[in-house]
Amino acid sequence: METLGFIHRFEKGQPEERPLLLLHGTGGDENDLMPLARMIAPTASLLSPRGKVLENGMPRFFRRLAEGVFDEDDVRRRANELADFVTNARARYGMAPPIALGYSNGANIAAAVLLVRPSEFAGAILLRAMPPLAHPEPIKLVGLPVLIASGARDPIIRPEAAAKLASLLERYGAAVEHRIVPAGHELSQADVTLAQGWWNGHALARVNGQ
Ligand code: MLT
Repeated sequence: METLGFIHRFEKGQPEERPLLLLHGTGGDENDLMPLARMIAPTASLLSPRGKVLENGMPRFFRRLAEGVFDEDDVRRRANELADFVTNARARYGMAPPIALGYSNGANIAAAVLLVRPSEFAGAILLRAMPPLAHPEPIKLVGLPVLIASGARDPIIRPEAAAKLASLLERYGAAVEHRIVPAGHELSQADVTLAQGWWNGHALARVNGQ
């Protein structure tokens, strides 16, 4: 569906459960993370936009100059654009603030939204993430729950880069859990198990009046 500025899918779930915002990796689309999301949160509402930036025909959520080298003006602009989409989608579908579930480029745009428009998200599951901005302005993320999962053998986004993101978010007050799973850049069963445990153990997966 192309409305609200992004091609997207929305699947309605239980209203008392926290919704998930799905953000795919480079070359993916709005269908990619649906099966993973259903494994993590079987009855949650799912909102899944397709990235609007094309790199050799592959959808992404922001422009990059090279692998791991980001166009930071575009990162900020696209993070705000995605945050606006979430605001409008919440009004359209009657959703509480979602927890973002992002993979790779999708995890990086989710981290960017946390750094520029943090009130849009109730938390984030960032699978293979790194800092999307070199010098973000300080921002309040007090108590915001964030799970970061790195692949021990990931040659694209090293666990050290994820650790920098974890300490940045912690410095701004987020409740960050950074775990390293025995995998590469691709996702593994260990990511699924980790994300399921985080989701299930998390009181904030339930909507408390917002
Ligand atoms: C990015 O561009 O966000 C990262 O390099 C991950 C990727 O998309 O390959």
